[in-house]
Amino acid sequence: MILFKTVRPLQNKLEKLRSNKQKIGFVPTMGALHAGHVSLVTEAKKHCDMVVCSIFVNPTQFNDEKDFEKYPVTIENDIFLLETNKTGILFLPSVNEIYPEGTEQLQHFELGYLENIFEGKYRPGHFQGVCNVVHRLLNIINPDILFLGRKDYQQYLVVKKMLQDFHPSTGIMAVDTAREANGLAMSSRNMRLSEDARIKATAIYQSLQYIKQHIAEGDIEWLKEKAKEKIWQGGFDKIDYVEICDAETLLPVSTIKTGKKIIVLAAAFIEDVRLIDNILL
Ligand code: PAJ
Repeated sequence: MILFKTVRPLQNKLEKLRSNKQKIGFVPTMGALHAGHVSLVTEAKKHCDMVVCSIFVNPTQFNDEKDFEKYPVTIENDIFLLETNKTGILFLPSVNEIYPEGTEQLQHFELGYLENIFEGKYRPGHFQGVCNVVHRLLNIINPDILFLGRKDYQQYLVVKKMLQDFHPSTGIMAVDTAREANGLAMSSRNMRLSEDARIKATAIYQSLQYIKQHIAEGDIEWLKEKAKEKIWQGGFDKIDYVEICDAETLLPVSTIKTGKKIIVLAAAFIEDVRLIDNILL
């Protein structure tokens, strides 16, 4: 694996690869890597000749400064994981390399209602920060395909929209959520949970599964209430949302129509850590 910390040498390398007709895949991350991130690299390797992974804890996407400060940094382990999984290139830029003119003056992206629902509602400005950093990283790397996780489904839709507007020649692929054996979605934030909370936190997945198993029985509002009950019983302290939506638009559905892809999404806090999860029905 080749490690680059600055833009110019990385671009020189990528230029050479491109002139040799190599297809470039890109996996952006914020580090604290786990098997979910590795599954993105594995998928990217299937479709591309060279995989670039970036690790950059993007300050502009944290609406809560404490969350940014507490974001886990495990760089030695990250490098080990990427190397053992045969990642070609790691891009590890500084804040100044990505935001040379500072982090105050950000570009505004037109994201429509997607910006203000669910994650956007509870984390104001979050998706503007995500789009700013992904846009900058894409300008630097100019990959053939961008790989994102379905775990952050709304992020996937938002970035897909940004790509249509600003990077129409870059493809995008979504990769399924990697889970612990007990169903808990893998997340860098899980590292902040106690052993006990990591077991309790499976309630979020179980509540989504409950909706999946009972969806045919009908009443959407009742199902959401039952799912919330399960999350409370699991020991969560606060629920931001449990919602049943059209998977293409993320608009809530009130009845289940055949032929429509449905997604169930949830966000809740346990031990002061905010977890999100979703399942496609
Ligand atoms: P981060 O949370 O590090 O996630 C990096 C990528 O890994 C995202 O595409 C995310 O959806 C995916 N991912 C996380 N957990 C996963 C899991 N359990 N299974 C499969 N994929 C998973 O998402 C971000 O960073 C940032 O917002 C970023 C896109 C890098 C922009 O800063």
